[in-house]
Order: sequence, then C-alpha cells, then structure tokens
Amino acid sequence: MPRLRGISLFFARGSVVAEMVELTVGLDERSYPVFIGAGILDRIGADLARRNIGNRYAIVSDSTVARLYGRRLQQVLANAGLLAELFAFPAGEESKSLTVLGDLASQLAGKGFDRYDAIVALGGGVTGDLAGFLAASYMRGIPFVQVPTTLLAQVDSSVGGKTGVDIPQGKNMVGAFYQPKAVYIDTDVLQSLPPRELLGGIAEVIKYGVIRDPDFFTFLESNIDNIISLVPEAIARTIETCCRIKAAVVAEDEKEGHVRRILNYGHTIGHAVEGASQYSIIHGFAVAIGMVAEAKIAVMHGLLAPRENAKIVHILKSYDLPTEVPENLDRKEIRQYLLTDKKNVSGSILFVLPTAIGETVISDSVTDAQIDAVLL
Ligand code: NAD
Ligand code: GLY
Repeated sequence: MPRLRGISLFFARGSVVAEMVELTVGLDERSYPVFIGAGILDRIGADLARRNIGNRYAIVSDSTVARLYGRRLQQVLANAGLLAELFAFPAGEESKSLTVLGDLASQLAGKGFDRYDAIVALGGGVTGDLAGFLAASYMRGIPFVQVPTTLLAQVDSSVGGKTGVDIPQGKNMVGAFYQPKAVYIDTDVLQSLPPRELLGGIAEVIKYGVIRDPDFFTFLESNIDNIISLVPEAIARTIETCCRIKAAVVAEDEKEGHVRRILNYGHTIGHAVEGASQYSIIHGFAVAIGMVAEAKIAVMHGLLAPRENAKIVHILKSYDLPTEVPENLDRKEIRQYLLTDKKNVSGSILFVLPTAIGETVISDSVTDAQIDAVLL
C-alpha cells in the first residue's frame, strides 16, 4: 500500500499559501514521491537540488509544452543552481516512435549527456512515455522525473513506470517498466490545456471510479461542472484519488502480473480503436469508447447488471465523452489490432470486465461473436 502522508508541507505562492499533497509509490528501494498541488512547477528546482538526482538535467518536452513551460522550468532549475537544457520534439502521438527516440538520444549524446545526468519529462502522456523510455535506455538507463501537464498524465501515465513507444503493429509495443525518481503534479498547468484534452483525461478518471472506488464514482457524478471548470478543491481531490488508487495498484503489482491489469479497463477495445483511427481519436476518447464496449460485453456475460452498465454510459455522456465506435472505422482493422495487443496471453485476448461500480474481473473467454456484437 502507498504511504499516504496527506498534506506534507505548505509553501508560499506570492501572498497565497498553497497546500501540497505528497503520496508515496511504495516499491522498496525504488519508492518515490508524488507531489500534487498548485504552483509546484516553481518548486521543482529546489526539490531536485535537494535530491541530487543528476549532475545536469535534460528537459524533454513536446513542441507545445516546451513553448508554454519549457523555458520557465529551465529557469526554475537554474535558480536552484542546476544546469538544464531543453529538448523539444513535435507534439502528437506520432512522435511516440523509435525514430523520435533515436533523434532525442542523438541530441543528448551531442550535448555530452552522460549516465550521471538525468531527464525531466515535461508534458502529457506522449512525453512521459517517450522521455521515460529514453531514460530507461540512454546509456543503459539514467534517472528521470515526471512533470505531467495533461490531466491524463497527472492521473495515470506519470505514475507507475510504464514507458515506451509505438510501432506500426501497435501501441506501446517497445518499452520498459522504469520508475521515475519523483512525480511533480502542478494543477495550475491544466489551465492552458485545450478542453478536448481535459475531457480525454476525464475518461481515465472515470475508469478509476469504475474499477476501484464507488464513492469516487458518485463524487464524479455529482461534480461535473466543478471538475470541468477546474475548481481547485474538486480537481485536487480528483487527481489525488486517482494517484492514490494507481500508487496502491502499482505497489501491489508493478509489472502487471495480476491486479495491475484492472488499470487496462477500456483499453483493450480502446487501443484497437485508437490504432484503427490512425490516432485521430485521442487516447482518452478511445478509452471512453472502450469502457462502454467492455461494459456491454460484461452485460452479455451476465456479469454486469444492465442498471450498472447504464450508469457507466450515463456518466461518460454527461462529461460529453464518446461512447460508440465511430461508423467510419474499419472493423476488420480493429479486430487486427485486438489480435496483436500486447496484453494477450497465449493468443487469448484479455478483457477487464466490470461486475459492479468499483469491481472488475479479468476474462480471457470473450468470444468473437461478443466482440463482433460490440463493434457493430
Ligand atoms: P499528449 O501527451 O499528446 O498531450 C495532448 C496534447 O496536449 C498535446 O498536443 C500536448 O502538446 C498538449 N498539452 C500538454 N500539456 C498541455 C498544457 N498544460 N497546456 C496546453 N497544452 C498541453 O497526450 P496525453 O493524452 O497526455 O497522453 C496520451 C498518451 O499517454 C498515449 O500515448 C497513451 O498511450 C499514454 N498513456 C500512458 C500510460 C502509462 O501508464 N504510461 C497511461 C495512459 C496513457
Ligand atoms: N495505464 C495502465 C497502467 O499503468 O498500468
């Protein structure tokens, strides 16, 4: 279980005193803190200097986030006496590739980064996965920290150490489990996030309610406006709850041998939809579609009551998330992606099926006919 230290320190932001929550992902000697709060970006330099993670820091960021926050973070590190260089790559899922990974590694080598230096992944899930895998593989592994800037990355991808890139055959097919040394979640940066990207993150947020926490699901049902408009208490509670669940699951099963699989609810169909759309459907939207499809399969199996299924569909619609596989997507292609999903075991496609709000089972016995029925 993660050690939840709650509000661990107070710090000054101008004249305002803001709260910061610290959680721990408990993995023995590889345990690390997750800091959540408003204005944390400006505190990262001091914390990194105290932790002494690297001699120099490579801030890796996509083009959009580099423009918004890259120089600021570089300055924050400089103010703490740390040397930092900014490395930007084109924004978008297409950059989560072996080509961009190789380009970044060459740039780091060109600037003389060595194994005593460290990487700061500043951005959304694409940046975290790509920069995390760069850290895992550059000079056979150098330390890294996560500074997630999308809701999706703050509630999911920055915690837990899954890193990697896509190949034409599928998402995240080349990568490594490689844990960061710390995660810094600044809720203020969500202010600049386009609404579509915020909604994509909310799909993963709802996922946590369905797989683990009925009370949180109820909170999400009754706080739609507060969450969408980023009311500080609502968004802080949302991120903290998700990170607490994720930290607990990862601490129990780091390498996805058993319980961690529940985090993939919505992702089996979701990844296939995302791939078949050539990534024009963003990850969170694809997961929302996948959650509905996988809940329907659970109903067909007699595992989920139609009433509970209706609650899942209703909350996703209330947040304006998509719930149907778009008609224009080639069903054959979706099935092909399902067959190459890396979650498959000995040729069987694994599905996480909800049995109630807050509970799931893992199933390898979903039939082709059931898959066809939800892809109609
Ligand atoms: P993303 O990283 O592409 O970010 C979405 C868009 O938002 C980008 O255009 C980015 O430039 C922009 N952006 C980011 N932060 C911003 C900010 N604060 N203000 C303005 N614009 C901002 O996408 P994402 O949705 O964050 O992540 C999706 C990726 O995460 C997928 O590749 C998915 O596979 C991966 N993922 C990984 C895990 C994991 O455990 N490692 C979990 C879930 C998802
Ligand atoms: N997002 C799924 C996992 O981290 O396991």
